[in-house]
Amino acid sequence: MSALIAYRGVGKVFPGVVALDDVSFSVAGGEVRALMGENGAGKSTLLKILAGEHRPDSGGLLVEGRPVAFASPRDSQAAGIAIIHQELHLAPDLSVTENLLLGMMPTRFGIIDRRAARERARAILARLGEEIDPDARVRTLSIGKRQMIEIGKALARDARIIAFDEPTSSLSARETRTLMRIIDDLRRDGRAILYVSHRMEEVFEISDSVTVLRDGRHVADYPDMKALTQDQLIIAMAGRTITDIYDYRARPLGDVAVAVSGLEGPGLRAPLSFEARRGEILGFFGLVGAGRSELFRLIYGAVPSTGGDVLIHGEPLVSADPRRAIAAGLALCPEDRKDEGIVPLAAVAENIALARRNLLGRPLIDERDEGTQAADLIQLMRVKTASPATAIATLSGGNQQKAIIARWLAADSRILLMDEPTRGIDVGARSEIYAHMYRLAEEGRTILFASSDMPEVMGVADRIIVMREGRVAGIVPRADATPDRLLRLALPDASTGQS
Ligand SMILES: Nc1ncnc2c1ncn2[C@@H]1O[C@H](COP(=O)(O)OP(=O)(O)OP(=O)(O)O)[C@@H](O)[C@H]1O
Ligand SMILES: [Mg+2]
Repeated sequence: MSALIAYRGVGKVFPGVVALDDVSFSVAGGEVRALMGENGAGKSTLLKILAGEHRPDSGGLLVEGRPVAFASPRDSQAAGIAIIHQELHLAPDLSVTENLLLGMMPTRFGIIDRRAARERARAILARLGEEIDPDARVRTLSIGKRQMIEIGKALARDARIIAFDEPTSSLSARETRTLMRIIDDLRRDGRAILYVSHRMEEVFEISDSVTVLRDGRHVADYPDMKALTQDQLIIAMAGRTITDIYDYRARPLGDVAVAVSGLEGPGLRAPLSFEARRGEILGFFGLVGAGRSELFRLIYGAVPSTGGDVLIHGEPLVSADPRRAIAAGLALCPEDRKDEGIVPLAAVAENIALARRNLLGRPLIDERDEGTQAADLIQLMRVKTASPATAIATLSGGNQQKAIIARWLAADSRILLMDEPTRGIDVGARSEIYAHMYRLAEEGRTILFASSDMPEVMGVADRIIVMREGRVAGIVPRADATPDRLLRLALPDASTGQS
């Protein structure tokens, strides 16, 4: 196997941060190489250099043994490289077809051949196993579908070198299976694949080899994934052992804190009922599109319900009024934190303080108190930032997430609705988030969290509500939760679950 792509002594500095320091490794045709490291280790920066978005300050890249210097993303594409970015790069107001074939729409007699374009888009969607209308605006698609379109763009370009930056963070179990199959095909076809993910199971399944980064430095290289254990990999990444990332702690439950009865509204296909107690961590599992996010938004009042009640400690919540929901002690940590969560140009500390400010109201804010709390949380959650005053937009993807989670931990809410709380967060930080969740529950708070990561739901929740197509497909106590049972309830074609 010869190297299709090689990094040679690559260095990159941002104001106040050494993002990469003398990194060298290569990927051969037919090889899937995982790139692992904690949040802020430099993975995305490495891929952005490959994509021609950043220029290295030192060292460089070789493509098939020849040095290249990309002045722009166009140069990178011309060299046969495609990147699936951590943050989606789609044009929301263009159609699926236009996004898939951006910059390479087929033409006939000098004008765009829409029919040919649509056919090509259909073929790509079929390969992705997706039933998406090629004419649909991307804006109307779920995050999971958008992610699949992003992957389709790389397939459309027929690139020889493909890099995936956390491609599965918003994919369902089924979509993830499809992606694993596609990557395997690409490998067989002799392409070089770079794969970035925080999900261990996935990395061990799909990769042949792994390069580990820590604080921008290349700390380890394992040519054979089969000779490596998960523990060894975690030690290489984090510099410490984490024996059980979930480390579940049972706790006594109090009286009913949230009672949802016969709730109806957009995204739900049948009236929905359940209860959650003080001290309880209730997991919501399901495929992307099962209605979990919609349910959370209904409970919170972000969208109006069309029937049923939500009782918080026995008091009915007025529908479609998030202000009163907040006053009643609810907090919603949304799934799409990129769009709904962060204030990009504001400081990290300010982003963390936001929810608490809303709760207390301006006159009660003690800025010094706030600053101390933000600083504590930055340290506790290991948010990698030059300072609390740094604009949050310059942080790595995972570190932005950590800051947003910190916001909800700071908010002092009695009932937390967390939608995919650990997406894109490294193993070490995830175990810290779980510990926070247990602590909050031990204090008598109630946590409802939605996750598509099955090991996580099984590892953390006291009870699991499995949703399928806008309905409750089953409620499974922790002791009875097996992967088989959860999947059977979640999958649309196996309608054996009780409701
Ligand atoms: N445009 C930028 N301006 C300033 N600093 C940046 C910029 N891009 C990245 N950094 C910094 O470079 C470091 C590496 O970031 P990078 O995004 O490569 O990390 P990562 O390994 O992809 O992390 P994650 O797992 O969280 O996605 C971080 O400290 C980050 O704050
Ligand atoms: Mg990244």
